[in-house]
Amino acid sequence: MIKEAEFAIEVELLTKRYGKYLAVNNISFKVRKGEVFALLGPNGAGKTTTVEIIETIRRPTSGQVRLLGMDVTRKKHAIVSCIGVLPQGFSSFDRITVRETMQYYSRLFGSRHVDIDGLIALVNLTDKAKEQYATLSGGLKQRLGIAIALVNDPEVVFLDEPTTGLDPRARREVWDVILGLKKKGKTVFLTTHYMEEAELLADTVTIISKGATIAMGSPDQLIENNADYLVLTLQSVEARALEIIARMGFRPDQNTNDQTILVRVAHTDDIRKILNAIQDGGASFLSMDVRKPNLEHVFLKLTGEALHQGAAGEKGAP
Ligand SMILES: Nc1ncnc2c1ncn2[C@@H]1O[C@H](COP(=O)(O)OP(=O)(O)OP(=O)(O)O)[C@@H](O)[C@H]1O
Ligand SMILES: [Mg+2]
Repeated sequence: MIKEAEFAIEVELLTKRYGKYLAVNNISFKVRKGEVFALLGPNGAGKTTTVEIIETIRRPTSGQVRLLGMDVTRKKHAIVSCIGVLPQGFSSFDRITVRETMQYYSRLFGSRHVDIDGLIALVNLTDKAKEQYATLSGGLKQRLGIAIALVNDPEVVFLDEPTTGLDPRARREVWDVILGLKKKGKTVFLTTHYMEEAELLADTVTIISKGATIAMGSPDQLIENNADYLVLTLQSVEARALEIIARMGFRPDQNTNDQTILVRVAHTDDIRKILNAIQDGGASFLSMDVRKPNLEHVFLKLTGEALHQGAAGEKGAP
């Protein structure tokens, strides 16, 4: 009897070269069955290369990659029938409807008993079923792409940057669909530039940069292990308060537009000291909050590089 694989995906010391260029450099990770796994990294980090090797589309230069226990270089047919793929920059036929698109892809996959209307409903496109692809917004197109990835009822679903370029609302709607897949027991392999997306959706995160792994774990673990500071935000602060905090040896960041200051502190004790000093100095502020850093901050700390433009967390954050 064949032993059932414990992990959906196992990647061991994977390397990929394009000629002399080293795109993926000895990376290893495992994806548990039923989890949402996010591979994070800036442009050119090697995400698509890695994903497409697991999908059997590209060949590894070296290393071992298994999907549901099967070697990706030797069991391509068996693997393809167990996976669903939303490629990066997905596009479909402009002038055919959502329903016709689903019917076509079902035939293409040789899947006979596909519940097309069920899949269309799963991605919340029922009222768009008769609309042509070209007329859909970016978010709806991506949701159709996810429905296509599900026509063969795959155990593992790959979504390569499913929300890049979408507005915040469309992005949230795609997130809901992804959470629905997890609820159905699918393993979801996600690549993204967006830290908040990974923080919200992923059970496990692997961050890669320039082809190499730089951090791995649950979002909470990554924050816990790498973020050894707190961010104190004070709103509507008097100018005097800023001087008081600076005199204490902290380096507050000031946003003059909304009279907000942010202070990076090591301990909750520092927060108490700052608040006392402001009060003793006769200065005031309207409100405050204290936050742990988010994954974006962790990424910046680890790499010194922003994942994508304009995404470095809150304005003026450390
Ligand atoms: N077929 C190819 N031939 C040569 N170089 C390639 C090929 N595919 C990718 N590359 C290069 O390998 C590196 C990694 O590319 P890859 O597409 O895997 O990155 P990525 O993390 O998916 O980036 P993005 O966030 O832009 O999608 C890049 O420098 C890219 O230009
Ligand atoms: Mg890519």
